[in-house]
Amino acid sequence: MDEKAGERFQHETRYTVENIGGHSLDWAARPEGYKLYEGVPLVELPPPFTNAPPTEPKDSLWEVVLRRRSVRQFSAAELSLTDLSRLLWASAAVTRIAPNQLYRAAPSAGGLYPIETYVSAQRVTGLEPGLYHYRVTGVDDRGHLDPGGGHLLEQLRAGSIARDLAQAALAQRLVAQAAAVFVWTAVFPRSRWKYRERAFRYVYLDAGHIAAQLSLAAVALGLGTCQIGAFFDQVVDDLLGVDGEDEATLYLTAVGHPVRSEARH
Ligand SMILES: Cc1cc2nc3c(=O)[nH]c(=O)nc-3n(C[C@H](O)[C@H](O)[C@H](O)COP(=O)(O)O)c2cc1C
Repeated sequence: MDEKAGERFQHETRYTVENIGGHSLDWAARPEGYKLYEGVPLVELPPPFTNAPPTEPKDSLWEVVLRRRSVRQFSAAELSLTDLSRLLWASAAVTRIAPNQLYRAAPSAGGLYPIETYVSAQRVTGLEPGLYHYRVTGVDDRGHLDPGGGHLLEQLRAGSIARDLAQAALAQRLVAQAAAVFVWTAVFPRSRWKYRERAFRYVYLDAGHIAAQLSLAAVALGLGTCQIGAFFDQVVDDLLGVDGEDEATLYLTAVGHPVRSEARH
């Protein structure tokens, strides 16, 4: 690894008064803002709430923040499909529909939403173990975004990838032990279209917001999470089937039922 690569990245992606202007947006070349896997089995997720706006769970945000700790030991209990649906909603779902723009749960630089969510389902009730991609939205007959076609899982691989994913995450056992592992990639062209090289800063910030919301939602549901930044990039990219160039893995989070209550230590 080039010892100065990090410093160069930080330096060369700075905004300065001199370099800020002079870039106009090419609307005709705007990349797709979402990813759909066509022709794969779809899994409907239960609605995240029985009433809207949600009134459950009842824990206050303050309590949830206080209780959040990284959990590295998970029990054998399964994650319910409704809880998985809630975790996906709180981290990545469309929460507001405006003309030409679907706003999502977590903030995103320029509303470009370059992060894609994949789930390694390892012990989820009613869900075949395997690799899934979260479908944020569908498209209608005229090619317009259709949030009614979203909040679904697309099955990319049948059969658990838990052990391979744990190996790829530097053999961290908690990854294999988790009920599910969220894997976030960035589709770089989506953000580079507007922000050019500075996009490489923003995608990490976007992923951080998503992960933070997931971890707080998990606590509110009595679940635990551990963020995972240590992994062999190409191995995880290969497991997902992404090229590591236009789309690459940024971050993982393991989710499950904690062995002991994190609230008390
Ligand atoms: C970017 C990032 C990467 C992390 N990677 C790992 C990891 O690979 N393995 C792990 O066990 N914990 C990982 N963690 C969890 C941190 O170790 C943990 O958040 C920290 O020790 C503070 O503890 P807390 O989360 O309980 O407050 C990561 C956290 C962040 C924010």
